[in-house]
Amino acid sequence: MRFDILTLFPEMFSSPFQVSVLAKAIEKGRIQIRAINLRDFAQDRHRTVDDTPYGGGQGMVMKVEPIARAIEEVKAEDPSTRVIYLTPQGELLNQEKVRELTSHGHLLLVCGRYEGVDERVRELFIDEEISIGDYVLTGGEFAAMVLIDAVARLLPGVLGSARSAEDDTFSYSLLEYPQYTRPPSFRGHRVPEVLLSGDHQAISLWRRREALRRTWLRRPDLLSKASLSEEDRRFLKEISKVE
Ligand code: 6GU
Repeated sequence: MRFDILTLFPEMFSSPFQVSVLAKAIEKGRIQIRAINLRDFAQDRHRTVDDTPYGGGQGMVMKVEPIARAIEEVKAEDPSTRVIYLTPQGELLNQEKVRELTSHGHLLLVCGRYEGVDERVRELFIDEEISIGDYVLTGGEFAAMVLIDAVARLLPGVLGSARSAEDDTFSYSLLEYPQYTRPPSFRGHRVPEVLLSGDHQAISLWRRREALRRTWLRRPDLLSKASLSEEDRRFLKEISKVE
């Protein structure tokens, strides 16, 4: 899968993709990431990419022409490119949306700065708008990194096979159960006995219940989307009496 990023700060994208899972994915040819400098598409002497807003007011607005030229160049290379504008006004990103984005072979992520882009960019060139949460960032760049990371890890061969197998249909609707590694006791805090027992059935049951408990305590909103067995429901009813 190919990810292009249209940005005024392409240098922000060098190190995040040079480490760990994504660096390996690039090396293996599973993903390609390219940061495109929007300023290269400005045509005046000062390479202007923004201007004051019509009607007055604070700040600057990103001009339509450089963005139009950049998007058209990418689309000329690959007409199937999906063009996404990252903005707090977009649809909230969640795991379902992330999964859906893996179906595209090529994304172009447009990063806004300042007071955003001229509205005609949206009208003419943007297929969809995405936000990564209800808070305000200085620009779309960090949101683009978050989106790429979340999408790329779902692609075949990006995570090790051991980890990708865990990515089943409902793993994202429950929070993860607690994990431990050696030593068995640290400052009086012991690893739960069941995890040392070697009883795999008992361990599975404990983990399922801890995932349910944690979700119920921290993110009860997720439980309505989770696929729950009769046994899960019995357990939730039980803990709702005591916790
Ligand atoms: Cl995509 N951009 C900006 N600037 N702020 C955000 C965001 C995006 N998502 C949440 N906050």
